[in-house]
Amino acid sequence: MTFNTSSAIQTKRLGYLLGKNLFPAACLALSGELGSGKTCLVQGIVSGLGGDENNVTSPSYTLINQYKALQGIVYHADLYRLNSKDQIYELGLEENWGDGMVLIEWPELILHDLNRIGFMQIFLKALTECERRIELVPYGNAYQTVLNNLRREDISAFTFLCTL
Ligand SMILES: Nc1ncnc2c1ncn2[C@@H]1O[C@H](COP(=O)(O)OP(=O)(O)O)[C@@H](O)[C@H]1O
Ligand SMILES: [Mg+2]
Repeated sequence: MTFNTSSAIQTKRLGYLLGKNLFPAACLALSGELGSGKTCLVQGIVSGLGGDENNVTSPSYTLINQYKALQGIVYHADLYRLNSKDQIYELGLEENWGDGMVLIEWPELILHDLNRIGFMQIFLKALTECERRIELVPYGNAYQTVLNNLRREDISAFTFLCTL
């Protein structure tokens, strides 16, 4: 499922609608270059989960942030600075699988492991200064259901590129 957004506000709105439809303990992997909007999307997701988007900051230095949301704890990680799986698992990320929501920027090193638990991969790409292409790819039935429910939301505001 692919969307085009034309502002940070629109990306947050998409995140909000996605967050609203997530289930407790969902895992999202956010892939895209610096500035493509990963953290911006997470702000929307956290607000959709009933948390405060103003608490969401980039974890590029802290590596992992935690936010409280109505749906439970949200773990927000940024693995950009880590270059081995050992370093990543020292963060204790996998201990949170099944406990809270886990949102991971720069997840490439552990995609293989995420496959075992199911996850949704989100590809973000800057098309112009203000336009982003955001593609949601579900791995697992639970995530396919999330997309089916998202489709029922009012997504008419987005340029809707295609749906699979
Ligand atoms: N359509 C858009 N969606 C998301 N961010 C956008 C958009 N247009 C402009 N921006 C800007 O791009 C930047 C995205 O930054 P950020 O979310 O931190 O990216 P990342 O986490 O991928 O490095 C922000 O400054 C935001 O205001
Ligand atoms: Mg970021």
